[in-house]
Amino acid sequence: MTKNILITGGAGFIGSHVVRRFVNNYPNYKIYNLDALTYAGNLENLKDIEMKENYTFIKGNICDIDLVDKIFQENNIDTVIHLAAESHVDRSISDPLAFVQTNVIGTATLLNSARKLWNNQYEGKLFYHVSTDEVYGSLGETGFFYETTAYDPRSPYSASKAGSDHLVMAFYHTYHLPIVISNCSNNYGPHHFPEKLIPLSINNIIQNKPLPIYGKGENVRDWLYVIDHADAIDTILHKGKMGETYNIGGHNEWTNIELIRLLCKIMDEKLGREKGSNEKLITFVTDRAGHDLRYAIDATKLKEELGWTPSLQFEEGLNKTIDWYLENSEWLKKVTNGEYLKYYEKQYHQNEN
Ligand code: NAD
Ligand code: DAU
Repeated sequence: MTKNILITGGAGFIGSHVVRRFVNNYPNYKIYNLDALTYAGNLENLKDIEMKENYTFIKGNICDIDLVDKIFQENNIDTVIHLAAESHVDRSISDPLAFVQTNVIGTATLLNSARKLWNNQYEGKLFYHVSTDEVYGSLGETGFFYETTAYDPRSPYSASKAGSDHLVMAFYHTYHLPIVISNCSNNYGPHHFPEKLIPLSINNIIQNKPLPIYGKGENVRDWLYVIDHADAIDTILHKGKMGETYNIGGHNEWTNIELIRLLCKIMDEKLGREKGSNEKLITFVTDRAGHDLRYAIDATKLKEELGWTPSLQFEEGLNKTIDWYLENSEWLKKVTNGEYLKYYEKQYHQNEN
């Protein structure tokens, strides 16, 4: 079987792992990667597959209607895996409109092109939207997010992702566009941009810089290795039911402070530093505005209906991740260039207690 798949945001963190997986595992599929190459997009993430015959990169914006229409028409696109987004909560607090533009308008643009150009010929077509658990809001100390949990987004980022999910569902109900949505918990792994907690902390430990922990570090996240997320997306794309939502998670909850302590300990050993020396870098800073307390996914539906479970234990994934950053210091140096330093200064300088 062959497919012509448009993957959006394929030069970003998760997108690059999804592109690699589909290009390598499915030589019969043609993969078109549409990415605007914002600060978060990096073609170096795809160096190993860029010359493959079944891969094409297209630089462009998902909000560009003419471009998106043209890509659908010229390449006979039958499947979309939509990952392009503004993805960082802190940036959504300082610049919410950028999130509405890409995450809401961009998703609407892609959906509308699919609707127009598939023109009710839906056999063999699929629009897969990659979303987040943050749309469900914030949990207390107990309980889980289920596919049936009511949406309750609380940051401009999660509200824009919730808006995009609602649009996807609206196109399913109104036009019968074949769609599927997955809502995943926090990812970690190679190529993660160092504005997010784990890669930022790895980078700062390498440089002996303070490790900024928001509030008291008691917020909880459920971490999943990015390659397991790509595996779940593959499973859902091939076996998922039209119109359905699937939660993806690692059953792997950590408070931020415990996670960073573990990271410090592993990196003491890897860097040959005295035991306990990295922990001294931990610095508590002003909390994130509207900081969600806890996310935790119940992924039973995905396990029972489609047979997917994560493959890696957290410590193994964390070790692999740290090793990747230590072996790829050039990548880290390049992405933490001038623009990153300006962002870092703005985000953390005024913030440290
Ligand atoms: P990322 O920020 O690393 O990458 C986003 C990519 O989208 C970049 O390559 C960027 O250049 C591209 N992009 C941004 N705006 C664009 C536009 N207007 N047009 C075209 N391309 C554009 O993000 P990520 O962490 O890889 O997340 C990918 C998707 O997965 C997002 O939709 C995010 O909401 C979702 N998600 C992320 C996580 C996580 O933990 N990172 C968890 C669950 C869901
Ligand atoms: O849950 C899925 C979501 O996970 C994705 O949809 C988002 O795209 C992704 O960015 C991530 O959102 P979070 O806000 O949970 O991730 P982040 O790495 O920014 O923060 C993780 C936790 O660490 C959170 O409680 C805030 C805290 N934190 C973060 C940073 C960057 C700190 O304490 N200090 C920091 O410097």
